[in-house]
Amino acid sequence: MTHYLDHNATSPLLPEALDAMTRAAKEAWGNPSSLHGPGRRARQEVEDARERVAELIGAKPNEIVFTSGGTESCNLAIVSGANLQKQKGKHLVISAIEHPAVKSEVKALESEGWEVTWVKPDTDGVITVEAVNAALRADTVLCAIMAANNEVGTVQPILEIGTLLRTKGVLFFCDMTQSLGKIPVDVSTLPVDLAAFVAHKIGGPKGVGALYIRKGLQIDSFVRGGGQERGLRGGTENVPGIAGFGAAAVVWKQRGAEERLRVQALRDALESELRQRIPEMKVNAANVSRLPNTLHATFPGCRGDILVMALDLRGIAASAGSACASGSVKASEVLLAMGRSQEDAISSLRFSLGIGNTAEEIPIIAQAVEQAYTAARQA
Ligand SMILES: Cc1ncc(COP(=O)(O)O)c(C=O)c1O
Repeated sequence: MTHYLDHNATSPLLPEALDAMTRAAKEAWGNPSSLHGPGRRARQEVEDARERVAELIGAKPNEIVFTSGGTESCNLAIVSGANLQKQKGKHLVISAIEHPAVKSEVKALESEGWEVTWVKPDTDGVITVEAVNAALRADTVLCAIMAANNEVGTVQPILEIGTLLRTKGVLFFCDMTQSLGKIPVDVSTLPVDLAAFVAHKIGGPKGVGALYIRKGLQIDSFVRGGGQERGLRGGTENVPGIAGFGAAAVVWKQRGAEERLRVQALRDALESELRQRIPEMKVNAANVSRLPNTLHATFPGCRGDILVMALDLRGIAASAGSACASGSVKASEVLLAMGRSQEDAISSLRFSLGIGNTAEEIPIIAQAVEQAYTAARQA
Protein backbone atom coordinates (compact mmCIF):
# COMPACT_ATOMS: atom_id res chain seq x y z
CA MET A 1 0.00 0.00 0.00
CA THR A 2 1.25 3.44 -0.86
CA HIS A 3 0.82 6.29 1.57
CA TYR A 4 0.22 9.13 -0.86
CA LEU A 5 1.48 12.50 0.39
CA ASP A 6 1.87 14.36 -2.89
CA HIS A 7 -1.55 15.97 -3.40
CA ASN A 8 0.02 19.30 -4.44
CA ALA A 9 1.44 17.47 -7.47
CA THR A 10 -1.86 15.77 -8.26
CA SER A 11 -4.74 14.11 -6.48
CA PRO A 12 -6.44 10.74 -7.04
CA LEU A 13 -9.50 10.86 -9.29
CA LEU A 14 -12.71 11.12 -7.26
CA PRO A 15 -15.29 8.37 -8.01
CA GLU A 16 -17.84 11.12 -8.71
CA ALA A 17 -15.52 12.59 -11.36
CA LEU A 18 -14.91 9.20 -12.95
CA ASP A 19 -18.66 8.52 -13.10
CA ALA A 20 -19.31 11.88 -14.73
CA MET A 21 -16.52 11.33 -17.26
CA THR A 22 -17.76 7.85 -18.16
CA ARG A 23 -21.31 9.16 -18.56
CA ALA A 24 -20.17 12.07 -20.71
CA ALA A 25 -17.94 9.88 -22.87
CA LYS A 26 -20.76 7.39 -23.47
CA GLU A 27 -23.77 9.65 -23.69
CA ALA A 28 -22.48 13.11 -24.58
CA TRP A 29 -20.09 12.26 -27.41
CA GLY A 30 -21.55 14.90 -29.74
CA ASN A 31 -19.77 18.08 -30.71
CA PRO A 32 -20.97 20.82 -28.33
CA SER A 33 -21.02 23.27 -31.27
CA SER A 34 -23.46 21.14 -33.29
CA LEU A 35 -27.08 22.23 -33.35
CA HIS A 36 -28.62 18.73 -33.40
CA GLY A 37 -29.57 16.51 -30.46
CA PRO A 38 -26.17 14.83 -29.80
CA GLY A 39 -24.52 18.26 -30.02
CA ARG A 40 -27.02 19.79 -27.60
CA ARG A 41 -26.47 16.88 -25.18
CA ALA A 42 -22.71 17.54 -25.16
CA ARG A 43 -23.31 21.30 -24.81
CA GLN A 44 -25.47 20.57 -21.76
CA GLU A 45 -22.57 18.69 -20.08
CA VAL A 46 -20.21 21.59 -20.71
CA GLU A 47 -22.63 24.24 -19.46
CA ASP A 48 -23.61 22.22 -16.37
CA ALA A 49 -19.94 21.85 -15.49
CA ARG A 50 -19.35 25.57 -16.07
CA GLU A 51 -22.10 26.36 -13.57
CA ARG A 52 -20.63 23.95 -11.04
CA VAL A 53 -17.08 25.27 -11.33
CA ALA A 54 -18.38 28.86 -11.22
CA GLU A 55 -20.35 28.09 -8.09
CA LEU A 56 -17.32 26.59 -6.35
CA ILE A 57 -15.20 29.70 -6.94
CA GLY A 58 -17.91 32.34 -6.50
CA ALA A 59 -17.97 33.39 -10.17
CA LYS A 60 -20.71 33.71 -12.76
CA PRO A 61 -20.73 30.94 -15.40
CA ASN A 62 -19.94 33.44 -18.17
CA GLU A 63 -16.75 34.40 -16.33
CA ILE A 64 -15.31 30.87 -16.83
CA VAL A 65 -13.34 29.69 -19.86
CA PHE A 66 -12.33 26.03 -19.97
CA THR A 67 -8.73 25.31 -20.99
CA SER A 68 -6.37 22.34 -21.22
CA GLY A 69 -5.12 22.87 -17.66
CA GLY A 70 -3.38 25.14 -15.18
CA THR A 71 -0.47 25.84 -17.51
CA GLU A 72 -2.67 27.04 -20.35
CA SER A 73 -4.80 29.12 -17.97
CA CYS A 74 -1.64 30.82 -16.61
CA ASN A 75 -0.17 31.35 -20.10
CA LEU A 76 -3.45 32.80 -21.39
CA ALA A 77 -3.78 35.14 -18.41
CA ILE A 78 -0.22 36.46 -18.70
CA VAL A 79 -0.16 37.00 -22.45
CA SER A 80 -3.65 38.42 -22.85
CA GLY A 81 -3.50 40.36 -19.58
CA ALA A 82 -0.21 42.02 -20.57
CA ASN A 83 -1.38 42.82 -24.09
CA LEU A 84 -4.65 44.31 -22.88
CA GLN A 85 -3.06 47.54 -21.71
CA LYS A 86 0.20 47.62 -23.63
CA GLN A 87 -0.54 51.13 -24.87
CA LYS A 88 -0.25 52.21 -21.19
CA GLY A 89 3.14 50.55 -20.68
CA LYS A 90 5.23 47.41 -20.93
CA HIS A 91 6.13 46.71 -17.30
CA LEU A 92 5.06 43.61 -15.35
CA VAL A 93 5.30 42.89 -11.62
CA ILE A 94 5.61 39.17 -10.90
CA SER A 95 6.40 37.27 -7.72
CA ALA A 96 9.71 35.41 -7.79
CA ILE A 97 8.03 32.23 -6.49
CA GLU A 98 5.47 31.69 -9.25
CA HIS A 99 5.06 28.28 -10.86
CA PRO A 100 6.99 27.75 -14.13
CA ALA A 101 3.60 27.98 -15.92
CA VAL A 102 3.73 31.70 -15.11
CA LYS A 103 7.47 32.33 -14.97
CA SER A 104 8.27 30.86 -18.38
CA GLU A 105 5.56 32.87 -20.11
CA VAL A 106 6.76 36.05 -18.37
CA LYS A 107 10.37 35.30 -19.41
CA ALA A 108 9.16 34.90 -23.01
CA LEU A 109 7.59 38.37 -22.81
CA GLU A 110 10.81 39.69 -21.25
CA SER A 111 12.75 38.44 -24.27
CA GLU A 112 10.27 40.31 -26.49
CA GLY A 113 11.10 43.61 -24.79
CA TRP A 114 8.77 43.73 -21.79
CA GLU A 115 10.32 44.90 -18.53
CA VAL A 116 9.75 42.73 -15.48
CA THR A 117 10.23 43.37 -11.76
CA TRP A 118 10.44 40.07 -9.88
CA VAL A 119 9.17 40.56 -6.33
CA LYS A 120 11.01 38.50 -3.72
CA PRO A 121 9.19 36.94 -0.78
CA ASP A 122 10.23 37.48 2.83
CA THR A 123 11.99 34.69 4.73
CA ASP A 124 8.64 32.91 5.33
CA GLY A 125 7.72 32.98 1.65
CA VAL A 126 5.25 35.87 1.95
CA ILE A 127 4.97 38.44 -0.85
CA THR A 128 4.12 41.55 1.15
CA VAL A 129 1.90 44.39 -0.02
CA GLU A 130 4.82 46.75 0.68
CA ALA A 131 7.09 44.76 -1.64
CA VAL A 132 4.47 44.83 -4.41
CA ASN A 133 3.89 48.56 -3.89
CA ALA A 134 7.62 49.25 -4.14
CA ALA A 135 7.78 47.38 -7.46
CA LEU A 136 4.90 49.24 -9.14
CA ARG A 137 5.65 51.94 -11.73
CA ALA A 138 3.51 54.33 -13.71
CA ASP A 139 3.84 52.00 -16.71
CA THR A 140 2.99 48.75 -14.86
CA VAL A 141 0.11 47.00 -16.61
CA LEU A 142 -0.11 43.58 -14.97
CA CYS A 143 0.80 41.99 -11.65
CA ALA A 144 0.85 38.22 -11.04
CA ILE A 145 0.96 36.84 -7.51
CA MET A 146 -0.16 33.28 -6.79
CA ALA A 147 -2.73 32.80 -4.00
CA ALA A 148 -0.75 29.97 -2.39
CA ASN A 149 2.64 28.55 -3.18
CA ASN A 150 2.75 24.98 -4.48
CA GLU A 151 6.00 24.14 -2.72
CA VAL A 152 6.10 25.67 0.78
CA GLY A 153 2.35 26.36 0.92
CA THR A 154 2.50 30.03 1.96
CA VAL A 155 -0.86 31.75 1.51
CA GLN A 156 -0.38 35.25 0.11
CA PRO A 157 -2.25 38.40 1.23
CA ILE A 158 -4.09 38.66 -2.08
CA LEU A 159 -6.98 40.72 -0.73
CA GLU A 160 -4.58 43.48 0.35
CA ILE A 161 -2.45 43.17 -2.79
CA GLY A 162 -5.53 43.23 -5.05
CA THR A 163 -6.92 46.26 -3.23
CA LEU A 164 -3.65 48.11 -3.79
CA LEU A 165 -3.58 47.14 -7.47
CA ARG A 166 -7.18 48.36 -7.96
CA THR A 167 -6.25 51.81 -6.63
CA LYS A 168 -3.31 51.90 -9.08
CA GLY A 169 -5.32 50.62 -12.05
CA VAL A 170 -3.07 47.57 -12.51
CA LEU A 171 -4.59 44.29 -13.74
CA PHE A 172 -4.27 41.45 -11.20
CA PHE A 173 -3.74 37.81 -12.24
CA CYS A 174 -3.80 35.27 -9.45
CA ASP A 175 -2.77 31.64 -9.93
CA MET A 176 -5.25 29.84 -7.66
CA THR A 177 -4.52 26.31 -8.82
CA GLN A 178 -3.16 25.27 -5.41
CA SER A 179 -5.79 27.13 -3.38
CA LEU A 180 -8.88 25.49 -4.79
CA GLY A 181 -10.20 22.91 -2.33
CA LYS A 182 -7.49 23.70 0.23
CA ILE A 183 -8.65 27.15 1.33
CA PRO A 184 -11.96 28.93 0.67
CA VAL A 185 -11.93 30.65 -2.74
CA ASP A 186 -14.53 33.28 -3.59
CA VAL A 187 -13.51 35.51 -6.47
CA SER A 188 -16.66 37.63 -6.03
CA THR A 189 -15.13 39.07 -2.84
CA LEU A 190 -11.59 39.44 -4.18
CA PRO A 191 -10.11 42.28 -6.24
CA VAL A 192 -8.79 39.80 -8.81
CA ASP A 193 -9.22 40.22 -12.59
CA LEU A 194 -7.95 36.86 -13.85
CA ALA A 195 -7.51 33.60 -11.94
CA ALA A 196 -6.23 30.17 -12.99
CA PHE A 197 -7.64 26.82 -11.83
CA VAL A 198 -7.01 23.16 -12.66
CA ALA A 199 -9.19 20.07 -12.17
CA HIS A 200 -6.60 17.47 -11.17
CA LYS A 201 -5.65 19.17 -7.91
CA ILE A 202 -9.21 18.65 -6.63
CA GLY A 203 -9.79 15.05 -7.71
CA GLY A 204 -10.80 15.89 -11.25
CA PRO A 205 -9.06 14.62 -14.41
CA LYS A 206 -5.78 15.87 -15.81
CA GLY A 207 -5.69 18.06 -18.90
CA VAL A 208 -8.58 20.35 -18.02
CA GLY A 209 -8.52 23.72 -16.31
CA ALA A 210 -10.32 27.01 -16.17
CA LEU A 211 -9.53 30.68 -16.39
CA TYR A 212 -11.72 33.11 -14.47
CA ILE A 213 -12.05 36.36 -16.39
CA ARG A 214 -13.79 39.12 -14.44
CA LYS A 215 -16.99 40.27 -16.16
CA GLY A 216 -16.35 43.16 -18.50
CA LEU A 217 -12.68 42.38 -19.14
CA GLN A 218 -12.19 41.99 -22.90
CA ILE A 219 -9.11 39.84 -23.31
CA ASP A 220 -7.78 38.45 -26.58
CA SER A 221 -7.92 34.81 -27.58
CA PHE A 222 -4.83 32.68 -27.28
CA VAL A 223 -5.63 29.33 -28.89
CA ARG A 224 -7.36 30.37 -32.08
CA GLY A 225 -9.82 28.15 -33.86
CA GLY A 226 -13.51 27.66 -34.31
CA GLY A 227 -14.64 30.31 -31.86
CA GLN A 228 -15.34 27.94 -28.95
CA GLU A 229 -15.43 29.26 -25.37
CA ARG A 230 -16.79 32.62 -26.52
CA GLY A 231 -13.91 32.92 -28.98
CA LEU A 232 -11.32 32.74 -26.19
CA ARG A 233 -10.21 29.16 -26.61
CA GLY A 234 -10.59 27.51 -29.98
CA GLY A 235 -10.92 23.74 -30.32
CA THR A 236 -13.69 21.22 -29.72
CA GLU A 237 -14.18 21.00 -25.97
CA ASN A 238 -12.88 18.07 -23.90
CA VAL A 239 -16.41 17.15 -22.83
CA PRO A 240 -15.61 14.18 -20.51
CA GLY A 241 -12.76 16.11 -18.87
CA ILE A 242 -14.94 19.16 -18.33
CA ALA A 243 -17.74 16.99 -16.93
CA GLY A 244 -15.24 15.41 -14.51
CA PHE A 245 -14.09 18.87 -13.41
CA GLY A 246 -17.72 19.86 -12.78
CA ALA A 247 -18.38 16.73 -10.71
CA ALA A 248 -15.25 17.32 -8.59
CA ALA A 249 -16.39 20.92 -8.05
CA VAL A 250 -19.70 19.67 -6.64
CA VAL A 251 -17.87 17.39 -4.19
CA TRP A 252 -15.70 20.26 -2.92
CA LYS A 253 -18.65 22.61 -2.65
CA GLN A 254 -20.42 20.04 -0.45
CA ARG A 255 -17.52 18.66 1.56
CA GLY A 256 -14.71 21.23 1.26
CA ALA A 257 -15.03 22.95 4.64
CA GLU A 258 -15.17 19.67 6.55
CA GLU A 259 -12.36 18.11 4.51
CA ARG A 260 -10.05 21.08 5.06
CA LEU A 261 -10.39 20.73 8.85
CA ARG A 262 -9.85 16.98 8.68
CA VAL A 263 -6.72 17.26 6.55
CA GLN A 264 -5.30 20.10 8.63
CA ALA A 265 -5.60 17.93 11.77
CA LEU A 266 -3.70 15.14 9.99
CA ARG A 267 -1.01 17.54 8.76
CA ASP A 268 -0.59 19.00 12.26
CA ALA A 269 -0.36 15.51 13.79
CA LEU A 270 2.31 14.49 11.26
CA GLU A 271 4.22 17.70 11.88
CA SER A 272 4.28 17.27 15.65
CA GLU A 273 5.25 13.56 15.42
CA LEU A 274 8.11 14.44 13.08
CA ARG A 275 9.29 17.33 15.28
CA GLN A 276 9.57 14.87 18.18
CA ARG A 277 11.34 12.19 16.17
CA ILE A 278 13.63 14.49 14.16
CA PRO A 279 14.44 17.59 16.26
CA GLU A 280 16.83 18.94 13.60
CA MET A 281 13.99 19.16 11.01
CA LYS A 282 13.16 22.80 10.14
CA VAL A 283 9.55 23.42 9.08
CA ASN A 284 9.36 26.09 6.39
CA ALA A 285 6.75 28.86 6.44
CA ALA A 286 5.79 27.59 9.90
CA ASN A 287 4.87 30.98 11.35
CA VAL A 288 2.69 32.34 8.58
CA SER A 289 -0.60 31.43 6.95
CA ARG A 290 -0.01 28.12 5.17
CA LEU A 291 -2.09 25.68 3.12
CA PRO A 292 -3.71 23.34 5.67
CA ASN A 293 -2.50 20.20 3.85
CA THR A 294 1.13 21.17 3.28
CA LEU A 295 4.18 20.39 5.40
CA HIS A 296 7.42 21.55 3.82
CA ALA A 297 10.58 20.96 5.82
CA THR A 298 14.33 21.02 5.55
CA PHE A 299 16.19 17.89 6.68
CA PRO A 300 19.79 19.00 7.35
CA GLY A 301 22.56 16.89 5.92
CA CYS A 302 20.36 14.97 3.51
CA ARG A 303 19.45 15.60 -0.13
CA GLY A 304 15.72 15.82 -0.77
CA ASP A 305 15.79 13.53 -3.82
CA ILE A 306 17.62 10.82 -1.85
CA LEU A 307 15.02 11.08 0.90
CA VAL A 308 12.20 10.82 -1.65
CA MET A 309 13.70 7.59 -2.95
CA ALA A 310 14.30 6.22 0.56
CA LEU A 311 10.65 7.00 1.37
CA ASP A 312 9.44 5.43 -1.86
CA LEU A 313 11.15 2.18 -0.84
CA ARG A 314 9.03 2.34 2.34
CA GLY A 315 5.80 2.90 0.42
CA ILE A 316 5.55 6.65 0.92
CA ALA A 317 5.04 9.08 -1.95
CA ALA A 318 6.37 12.54 -1.09
CA SER A 319 8.15 15.18 -3.12
CA ALA A 320 11.47 16.99 -2.95
CA GLY A 321 11.26 20.73 -3.31
CA SER A 322 14.02 20.42 -5.83
CA ALA A 323 13.91 18.77 -9.23
CA CYS A 324 16.53 16.28 -10.27
CA ALA A 325 17.78 16.93 -13.79
CA SER A 326 20.39 14.79 -15.56
CA GLY A 327 21.90 13.49 -12.35
CA SER A 328 22.41 16.90 -10.75
CA VAL A 329 20.07 18.23 -8.09
CA LYS A 330 18.53 21.61 -8.75
CA ALA A 331 18.04 23.65 -5.62
CA SER A 332 14.51 24.84 -4.90
CA GLU A 333 14.08 28.30 -6.46
CA VAL A 334 11.38 29.06 -3.91
CA LEU A 335 13.64 28.44 -0.90
CA LEU A 336 16.50 30.35 -2.54
CA ALA A 337 14.15 33.31 -3.15
CA MET A 338 13.22 33.11 0.56
CA GLY A 339 16.89 33.74 1.32
CA ARG A 340 17.76 30.19 2.33
CA SER A 341 21.16 28.63 1.68
CA GLN A 342 21.90 26.41 -1.31
CA GLU A 343 22.30 23.51 1.12
CA ASP A 344 18.85 24.04 2.65
CA ALA A 345 17.38 24.43 -0.82
CA ILE A 346 18.48 20.92 -1.83
CA SER A 347 17.64 19.31 1.51
CA SER A 348 13.90 19.81 1.65
CA LEU A 349 10.83 17.63 1.41
CA ARG A 350 7.19 18.40 0.81
CA PHE A 351 4.41 16.31 2.30
CA SER A 352 1.04 17.34 0.88
CA LEU A 353 -1.91 15.53 2.37
CA GLY A 354 -5.37 15.10 0.94
CA ILE A 355 -8.60 13.28 0.57
CA GLY A 356 -7.24 9.71 0.79
CA ASN A 357 -5.20 10.15 3.98
CA THR A 358 -6.34 8.83 7.35
CA ALA A 359 -5.32 9.25 11.00
CA GLU A 360 -4.14 5.62 11.10
CA GLU A 361 -1.42 6.37 8.56
CA ILE A 362 0.24 9.17 10.51
CA PRO A 363 2.35 7.13 13.00
CA ILE A 364 3.37 4.72 10.21
CA ILE A 365 4.46 7.60 8.00
CA ALA A 366 6.31 9.39 10.81
CA GLN A 367 8.25 6.26 11.70
CA ALA A 368 9.14 5.63 8.06
CA VAL A 369 10.34 9.21 7.61
CA GLU A 370 12.59 8.88 10.65
CA GLN A 371 14.02 5.61 9.33
CA ALA A 372 14.45 6.99 5.82
CA TYR A 373 16.22 10.09 7.17
CA THR A 374 18.62 7.98 9.24
CA ALA A 375 19.30 5.69 6.27
CA ALA A 376 19.66 8.52 3.75
CA ARG A 377 22.07 10.45 5.99
CA GLN A 378 24.32 7.43 6.18
CA ALA A 379 24.19 6.87 2.40
C1 LIG B 1 0.79 26.78 -8.73
C2 LIG B 1 0.62 26.00 -10.00
N1 LIG B 1 0.32 26.65 -11.13
C3 LIG B 1 0.16 26.00 -12.30
C4 LIG B 1 0.30 24.64 -12.38
C5 LIG B 1 0.17 23.96 -13.71
O1 LIG B 1 -0.82 23.00 -13.77
P1 LIG B 1 -0.79 21.84 -14.91
O2 LIG B 1 0.56 21.19 -14.81
O3 LIG B 1 -1.88 20.92 -14.53
O4 LIG B 1 -1.00 22.49 -16.21
C6 LIG B 1 0.60 23.91 -11.21
C7 LIG B 1 0.79 22.44 -11.25
O5 LIG B 1 1.54 21.86 -10.52
C8 LIG B 1 0.76 24.62 -9.99
O6 LIG B 1 1.07 23.99 -8.86
